Amino acid sequence: MTASHRRPLIAGNWKMNGSLKDAAELVQALAKDLGSVGHEVIVAPPFTALTVVGELLKKSPIKLAAQDMHWENAGAYTGEVSGAMLKDAGCHAVILGHSERRRLFGDTDATVQRKLKAALAHKLLPIVCIGETLEERESQRTFKVLETQVKGALTGFAPSDLSSAVIAYEPVWAIGTGKTATPEQAQEAHVFARRQVAALYGDGLAQGMRILYGGSVTPENVDSLMAQPDVDGALVGGASLKPIGFLRIIHYQAAVRS
Ligand code: 13P
Repeated sequence: MTASHRRPLIAGNWKMNGSLKDAAELVQALAKDLGSVGHEVIVAPPFTALTVVGELLKKSPIKLAAQDMHWENAGAYTGEVSGAMLKDAGCHAVILGHSERRRLFGDTDATVQRKLKAALAHKLLPIVCIGETLEERESQRTFKVLETQVKGALTGFAPSDLSSAVIAYEPVWAIGTGKTATPEQAQEAHVFARRQVAALYGDGLAQGMRILYGGSVTPENVDSLMAQPDVDGALVGGASLKPIGFLRIIHYQAAVRS
């Protein structure tokens, strides 16, 4: 199977940025100038802006995602938001295990797995983030880290449950640093991650699973990243906050993709 079987996905992770007014302006600008796009486009605003952005996207093919969720449906979990609530707010997808959640807020492979289970139960498209730190890369531990993260989050499911799941490879050293992985580094990591999925669930599922790249994606570097056969999309942070730039990323030059 080739890359053409996997529908490209461009997602914008807004992180903890912007007012409601900023969110509305950004998404209106995106929706207005989106034009024709064959692949999937997602934006992930902060929780407080989900319903406002969702309303504004009602007539747009751009879909709504949350940046995290809790694995329980409801209860005494102060500060948390459940998958049921995200569905209720109009979400189509949810980002899980982002490195900022892992590093700053205690997410582990085990909690990411629980969140993944809950996301799938609520029919949310899960985008599971993995990626090594600079220290791990420099000490030749990248593959070990990716193997542990993929297996830690994805073990224990029925293969059919995971048919919609998406992985985002986001090397921690590339996030918000302006230091993008080279297309070759991204391709190598994606092939490796796909192989881990194949080891768990077979080649059929692995070849169908979309793997996004994230980490300082810009209008300037998106084309060469998307030209890699195993790069099926992008998870974009900072550059997704500027409509013109993000639209250019959405409309990456696909011609070179094999
Ligand atoms: P930047 O694009 O700002 O590096 O962020 C990437 C990211 O963390 C997306 O989830």
